[in-house]
Amino acid sequence: MNERTQVGIIGAGPAGLMLSLLLAREGIDSIVLESRSREEIESTIRAGVLEQGTVDLMTVMGLGERMRREGVVHHGIELRFGGAGHRIDFADLAGGRSITLYPQHEVIKDCVAARLEQGGTILFNVRHVQLDDISTGQPLIRCVHQDKQVELRCDFIAGCDGFHGVSRSSLPETGLRVFSRSYPFGWLGILMQAPPSTSELIYAYSERGFALVSTRSPELQRLYIQCDPTDDIANWPDALILDELQARLATSHGWELRVGPVVQKGILAMRSFVVEPMQYGRFFLAGDAAHIVPPTGAKGLNLAVADVRHLARALVRFYQHNQSDLLEAYSTTCLKRVWRAEHFSWWMTSMLHRFPDDDAFQQRMQRAQLDYTVNSRAAATSLAENYVGLPFDW
Ligand code: APR
Ligand code: PHB
Repeated sequence: MNERTQVGIIGAGPAGLMLSLLLAREGIDSIVLESRSREEIESTIRAGVLEQGTVDLMTVMGLGERMRREGVVHHGIELRFGGAGHRIDFADLAGGRSITLYPQHEVIKDCVAARLEQGGTILFNVRHVQLDDISTGQPLIRCVHQDKQVELRCDFIAGCDGFHGVSRSSLPETGLRVFSRSYPFGWLGILMQAPPSTSELIYAYSERGFALVSTRSPELQRLYIQCDPTDDIANWPDALILDELQARLATSHGWELRVGPVVQKGILAMRSFVVEPMQYGRFFLAGDAAHIVPPTGAKGLNLAVADVRHLARALVRFYQHNQSDLLEAYSTTCLKRVWRAEHFSWWMTSMLHRFPDDDAFQQRMQRAQLDYTVNSRAAATSLAENYVGLPFDW
């Protein structure tokens, strides 16, 4: 089967789907190729903290109805250490901006439904995706769909296929730079059937390591504890996880974690990663395909959405005004925000986790940083404005 489209999009994650919707709004045609099934992408549990800018974009795109109904707006977070909680008040410190908790797979469901409703094409379960002719003016994507060979000729290709996709490795290595850091710990995450223990997220630093209290719905809590990234989840019976959470989150005023059955658990590795540049000829990377952050700053989804906003704007300028200046500047424009988010996520991670080789000096440094962050308006403002997200044009 031979097909043609203006923009071939690899991957139906938040980056790929949002790009196809942004382009459709301006009359630009695209086809999305996704290696997994619709059911799978709509049910994979990921994070779910939407920055104000992501919420505003969803609303402008007509995707905000369910998010407004089911998402929960948070006006602050708690940093907990030394047995006490300290609130970072976004309403006060971040110019009234806030975050919305709305799980990533719900964003995916809304985007897929909207795109299919418009008559857009998303090919699910594609296999053997391969890029060709990427140095030419008409790059090509080959893949297999429903046992048929597909050749998709495009004006542009967007690689939105996440960290483990094929896009990044299709870039010629000459001129590429990779920046990476892995952390000597991971997060053990659980979903627990219990009503919320807190109305806002709690990021806790303790002698025993980091813990995070988040939520998915009024009946489901999402909780994490720092662990050895190579550990086997079989070493963690539910009771041990709950004991560890309780120990790390304990306060001097007797705070209680509401508990219930653990319905899912797993261990995630943590890494910072950036590839530069994020483009080659008519081929552009966006989202996790180009960069990942440790989850501590909750930036991954928001960065992916910011990338494709820039890419869509640049493509619109190309098609409507025949100007390629924004396309040429794409990588430089995105990387400014990417590195800001890389720094913020690294900083939050470094402040809140126990490192295997840290000594008493290092722990005093972390404690000094935490005290300063919650007691200085300037420092708390810095955390707040990064957490709710910098404006799109930053
Ligand atoms: N061909 C087609 N699709 C692919 C391929 C491939 N070879 N490889 C991966 N994919 C698909 C994946 O199945 C996934 O649905 O690409 C999609 C990539 O989506 P994400 O990994 O969600 O990446 P992105 O859209 O950049 O969004 C980043 O997702 O991983 C989280 O924490 C991250 O919140 C961040 C967000
Ligand atoms: C989550 O709810 O899964 C979550 C929340 C905040 C984070 C990371 C993950 O920083």
